[in-house]
Amino acid sequence: MRKGKFITVEGCEGVGKSTQIALLKEMFAGSGDVLFLREPGGTAISERIRSVILDIQNKGMSAVCEVLLYSAARAQLVEEVIKPALAEGKTVFCDRFTDSTFAYQGCARGLGAEAVERLNEIACAGLEPDLTIFFDLDPVAAFLRKGGADGEDRLEQEGMDFHRRVYAGYKLAAERYARRIVCVPAGGDIADVHERVVKALKERGVI
Ligand code: TMP
Repeated sequence: MRKGKFITVEGCEGVGKSTQIALLKEMFAGSGDVLFLREPGGTAISERIRSVILDIQNKGMSAVCEVLLYSAARAQLVEEVIKPALAEGKTVFCDRFTDSTFAYQGCARGLGAEAVERLNEIACAGLEPDLTIFFDLDPVAAFLRKGGADGEDRLEQEGMDFHRRVYAGYKLAAERYARRIVCVPAGGDIADVHERVVKALKERGVI
């Protein structure tokens, strides 16, 4: 039985997602009832899958192989960590989740919304976020803000067109899942963006 709230955090590279998550962690510090996770990752198996996905040596990975690996990492995380935590009444924040797959693999890689939705359903086994915070910032501005590609992982090495398609995918997801996704403008002051996040959490009864 599910009791806790499940919140996912989404956005293109460089939107300031990590900074905002760090502020949320500070805000909830000391509360044992709040869990912060990231995707792909969060379990020993999912972290191993992550390293395969992001390895720059795996340049030849097909789009289908990629989406199945993200889904496999998610299935493990949902079953091993997220569902049990929610059942105990914990609040769970996850840095990226199904909308990343929708935007990156469904739209940017061109696998299509329906195929990704089917895979997401299988991986999540009925679990859906109560709230998704989408940090909305023009992808070119975001990418430049973080200093361009630093070559740390395979996805970051994609060109600007790829990141534009990711952004278009997120905008489509925000329309398609309007009930769940809140668009938070990610430009401007870090503190102002944090305020917007806190407001969204209050409005959805998370805090
Ligand atoms: P991170 O840089 O936020 O840790 O995420 C790792 C990369 O994986 C990032 O480039 C986004 C990408 N990604 C997908 O392409 N599909 C997914 O389903 C997820 C969760 C992440």
